[in-house]
Amino acid sequence: MAPKTSPEIGGMGHSVKRKEDPRFLRGLGNYVDDVNLPGMLYLDIVRSPYAHATIKNIDISKAMAIPGVLAVITGKDLEKYNLHWMPTLMSDTQMVLPVDKVMYQAQEVAAVLATDRYIAADGVEAVEIDYDPLPVVVDPKKALLPDAPVLRTDKKDKKDNHIWHWEWGNREATDQLFNEAEVTVKEDIYIPRIHVSSIETCGCVAHFDKVKGKLTVWMTTQAPHAIRTVFALVAGHVGLSEERIQIISPDIGGGFGGKVPVYPGYVIAVAASVLTGKPVKWIEDRMENLQADSFARDYHITAELAGKKDGQLTAIRIKTIADHGYTDAAANPSKFPAGLFHVCTGSYDLKAAHVEVDGVYTNKPPGGIAYRCSFRVTEAVHTIERMADVMAHELGMDPAEFRMKNFIKPEQFPYKSALDWEYDSGNYAAALQLAMDRIGYSELRKEQAEKRARGELMGIGISSFTEIVGAGPSKHFDILGIKMFDSAEIRVHPTGKVIARFGTKSQGQGHETTYAQIVAEELGFPVDSVLVEEGDTDTAPYGLGTYASRSTPVAGAACAIACRKIKDKARKIAAYLLEAHEDDLEWEPGKFFVKGSPDRAKTIQEISLAAYTNHPPGMEAGLEAVNYYDPPNLTYPFGSYICVVDIDKGTGEVKVRRFVAVDDCGNIINPMIVEGQIHGGLTMGLGPALYEEIQYDESGNILQGSFMNYLLPTAVETPKWETDKTVTPSPHHPLGAKGVGESATVGAPAAIVNAVVDALWHLGVRHIDIPITSAKVWKLLREAGVKG
Ligand code: CDP
Repeated sequence: MAPKTSPEIGGMGHSVKRKEDPRFLRGLGNYVDDVNLPGMLYLDIVRSPYAHATIKNIDISKAMAIPGVLAVITGKDLEKYNLHWMPTLMSDTQMVLPVDKVMYQAQEVAAVLATDRYIAADGVEAVEIDYDPLPVVVDPKKALLPDAPVLRTDKKDKKDNHIWHWEWGNREATDQLFNEAEVTVKEDIYIPRIHVSSIETCGCVAHFDKVKGKLTVWMTTQAPHAIRTVFALVAGHVGLSEERIQIISPDIGGGFGGKVPVYPGYVIAVAASVLTGKPVKWIEDRMENLQADSFARDYHITAELAGKKDGQLTAIRIKTIADHGYTDAAANPSKFPAGLFHVCTGSYDLKAAHVEVDGVYTNKPPGGIAYRCSFRVTEAVHTIERMADVMAHELGMDPAEFRMKNFIKPEQFPYKSALDWEYDSGNYAAALQLAMDRIGYSELRKEQAEKRARGELMGIGISSFTEIVGAGPSKHFDILGIKMFDSAEIRVHPTGKVIARFGTKSQGQGHETTYAQIVAEELGFPVDSVLVEEGDTDTAPYGLGTYASRSTPVAGAACAIACRKIKDKARKIAAYLLEAHEDDLEWEPGKFFVKGSPDRAKTIQEISLAAYTNHPPGMEAGLEAVNYYDPPNLTYPFGSYICVVDIDKGTGEVKVRRFVAVDDCGNIINPMIVEGQIHGGLTMGLGPALYEEIQYDESGNILQGSFMNYLLPTAVETPKWETDKTVTPSPHHPLGAKGVGESATVGAPAAIVNAVVDALWHLGVRHIDIPITSAKVWKLLREAGVKG
């Protein structure tokens, strides 16, 4: 789609350079740790070496003897104010600091307040805690056995470790189709625990101003408004009411869902500031971040597909055990404890589906966050895309041909899925065909056959995923009862300059540029004259924040609607100035003119001035609007990825030789930013596919607690991503746009696994759990008798 605006205006479709980059690239960003206030104190946290233990005694005397250590805060101190527990976003409860027992290794046990960051760290070393170890449960399947120790003894009536059971779909119809199926396939798929590992760790500076009775917290949060409401609900009884709480999210160095939850450190810092009346800073270090902050995934899935011998799919059936650690602190919409996992029918036209998920407590950190993923969509996509490949191979069909046969067809949209989603638009075959053409699919298949004949291992994997983003329509989506709308407030000043504020919060996605482009598109102000602000609850309109690729689908739509309100008023002012009837005016980006007389025109800048100096009698002065957007539906971006791998028979090393990614996120605001999102997302898909996993031993000790063994891909491992696009606008979004931020992370792992299994299928390999390490492949090769 050719841009409607000139490059000088820079509306949708222009690759405008990111307005935020000059400060980021020159090291001039303002992150939480850059906030320094006079008289600021520092907090550091004592963490548990045990995964499950009774706390017999906490001796703070040696720590208190260190000059500069002001206090050691324990659960018993917080208990006096009823602040030792807090609610999670899933209405479970989480310890701020424990009173009697710890539930996972690296859990917060006490906090040291000192005049200096390093003194606080020395204080942490000096706190002496006497623990009595308790039996540990790390395996969620064992946690469900009748003789498993009950972990949540704080819940009086709890007799087991089961949190919830959730199911969706038509069980009878699904079972019936399985009974009638000509062919079925079944796999156990584990999607391991991983971590977002954003560049910036979590932290805050809490400042309670005793004179004003106002709390200001600079914190690493993706959802400042929701956090303010949670703080008011938790601490209202100690005098912190919502209008006296200001949350400021300054620049954020990556969030990816990990900066949605409320972590105990935030609450302790706030409590310490309220008690001392001094600013208190708490910044996690890298290992604390990796070991104790919310994890992602950890789904044990058993999936089955049913179909006919000609390759036509009919039904899917899934049972899942979801390991939530010691509390359900996932960040899902309230109605969906397993997130949007029931988008697991993917891009395929299935007649029936049934999915069951059981949440389980274990002695691990809590979480289940939407890591660059719209609430468990990665798990869903991985399952259906793996299973589609298993079925295709089982039938001896080419996986591309198999997908083409089963795709939902363009004419079926809007498409109601077997699990009740209404897909807005899509053209899956076009995306796959483009990816096949770009990569040279049939030549690659020929090359693979030749190499196989020579005993070489080469695989081609496809992932044709459907995403579901833009949570969400208020009839179904809320977090702690707050509906998941989002907002834009736009003010046009007399000199034709604009300030636009949002309820979302960029963590690197480039909102300062793309929202300005939406204003430019709608009102014709050059993108440079639009200042975008997010993240300050005192100034920004209320919104639910940025995660799950919801900014463009929800706040982007709010921006367009608010601009349209402004344009309506601008038209009236232009008509008055031009002494013409409103209906006789036409718009071209940046000005209204009288139909047939292009010289009789008023620019948007002239209209802005008139809104304050010469507006029609009886009209309110000013030019501004606000919109709280409740999306009528989610948006369904999609794509087709094709990956080519070569496997070293001697070492089992998987090398991604080529990777073509075709994405469709509807109309694009900024093509360069979208491409950047996809490049980053693909790398965040490569990591879990080949390297990343957090495991625990039987005693609950974390095995990948630092970047020495939690292996993030570097530039060395990352292949050259080849990207392309199709454009299928969303019919219900005011700009026809869909979200894109997480698509690549969601879609990439299955393409990589499918390529590896494709290379090894003839050796009897049906499935490999991610991460596909060289050791796993090496073992499979040796078992199959392959010589290195
Ligand atoms: O919520 P989040 O910002 O993470 O995700 P998003 O809405 O998918 O947007 C990620 C970035 O890509 C933002 O800067 C968007 O404005 C931009 N984008 C775009 O330019 N065109 C689209 N159709 C979708 C996103």
